[in-house]
Amino acid sequence: MALEVIVLAAGAGKRMRSRLPKVLHPLGGRPLLAHVLGAAGELAPSRIHVVVGEHAKTIQAAFADASAEGQGISWVTQRPPLGTGHAVAQALPAVAADATVLVLPGDAPLVGAATLAAAAAAGGAAVAVVTAQLANPAGFGRILRAGGSIAGIVEDQDASARQRAITEVNAGILAAPCGMLAKLLAVPMPDNAQGEHYLTDVVGLAAAEGQAVAGVAAASAEEILGVNDRAQLARLERCYQRRQAEALMAAGATVMDPARVDVRGDVAVGEDCVIDVGVVFEGQVTLGRGVHIGAGCVVRDARLGDDVQVLPMCCIDGAEVDAGCRIGPFARLRPGTRLGAEVRIGNFVETKQAQLGAAAKANHLAYLGDASVGAGCNIGAGAVTCNYDGVDKHRTAIGDGAFVGTNATLVAPLAIGDGAYVGAGSTITDDVPPRDLAIGRGRQRNIEGWTPPARRPGG
Ligand code: UD1
Ligand code: CA
Repeated sequence: MALEVIVLAAGAGKRMRSRLPKVLHPLGGRPLLAHVLGAAGELAPSRIHVVVGEHAKTIQAAFADASAEGQGISWVTQRPPLGTGHAVAQALPAVAADATVLVLPGDAPLVGAATLAAAAAAGGAAVAVVTAQLANPAGFGRILRAGGSIAGIVEDQDASARQRAITEVNAGILAAPCGMLAKLLAVPMPDNAQGEHYLTDVVGLAAAEGQAVAGVAAASAEEILGVNDRAQLARLERCYQRRQAEALMAAGATVMDPARVDVRGDVAVGEDCVIDVGVVFEGQVTLGRGVHIGAGCVVRDARLGDDVQVLPMCCIDGAEVDAGCRIGPFARLRPGTRLGAEVRIGNFVETKQAQLGAAAKANHLAYLGDASVGAGCNIGAGAVTCNYDGVDKHRTAIGDGAFVGTNATLVAPLAIGDGAYVGAGSTITDDVPPRDLAIGRGRQRNIEGWTPPARRPGG
């Protein structure tokens, strides 16, 4: 039977106290909703409907790009948000009558495909509800059982003190045949504390009609946790990051403290990588074998080859780094940086759109922007490529084995030939032929027997 998924994301999300719609708040660098859509997508449903409300435009725009999760969503609007049951009712007309419907909340991002698949399977012929045991069930709907079978769900706000003590909770994930769900939702709903049309009421109705209600235990209790406020968002972020750290370790990385690494994207690591504390990965990052990332580094959209060493406090963004390079401490590699093997980039060096050949060195305090630096070059402390004239950017090309002295100012566009030397403190505005020495600075003048002001008569 065909499977269609309905994701609920039309709630006001008031408890977040945010201008950003709740489902767009990031977890691990991606919107909550993206995680949910990713898990649902693994079931290869014939369609995913997302119910949105007040923030429809903002949410749709966030998924308008080519992101895998955003592909082929069928958007449904619910305005005003009259409850989860009302939200599902808005989506059902677009669902094939003979489909199995899987409903899930857009604000529970840790759910796994295995739990969803089990719910979808059980929901082929009956109402299936995903449940979990929580030590602290506050805020969740409680599962009411009669003689072992599920008899209904009572919302936290509507529960009696005795019902509140129940630790089996409703995950908010429900599956049922489309026709059955439509019929149950059409029944007028009883009054409740929130004055809403609860999806959860269909469970009690089904049980009262003598229909089978299946309970499906979530693969882990953590999976069902939702985000209603920022404290919960922070807790879920830690759960998510713990899993990322475990995945890195399973792939062969030593993580110095699994509670102090953050992955906001996808990281692939080779064996024997070492990741020190306070490292943040963003976007798509690939580390070869034996890569060391020092404390406090941010590595984003980068590929680092085997045995690369990144010393503490570096920012690496949009860079390709070949094997054996050593970077930092306190270095900044910006987009378009391409380092050949064994390159050395030291403290307070910034690179942007810069290609450095094998074994080139810029060990201290340099800016290399819109530049190519040949193999084996030495770039002295304080050397700067002046790439910007206030309007346009210009390139500096430095040949293999060139030596650029301390505090050289290289005014682009400029070409410095293979093996050329640039004297310390020079301002270079003209090309330097291969192997020449260029000096562009005022000559030193010594004033013999100079009398300092303090020693002058009357001084
Ligand atoms: C809901 C369940 C509760 C369950 C919990 C699990 C109901 C009535 N309660 O409570 O039993 O334990 O989830 O997380 O279903 N939404 C809409 N339209 C609306 C109202 C909500 O689309 O009119 C969306 C929200 O954006 C959210 C989801 O539905 O993504 C759940 O709504 P929320 O208000 O967070 O329900 P909970 O109080 O968490
Ligand atoms: Ca919720």
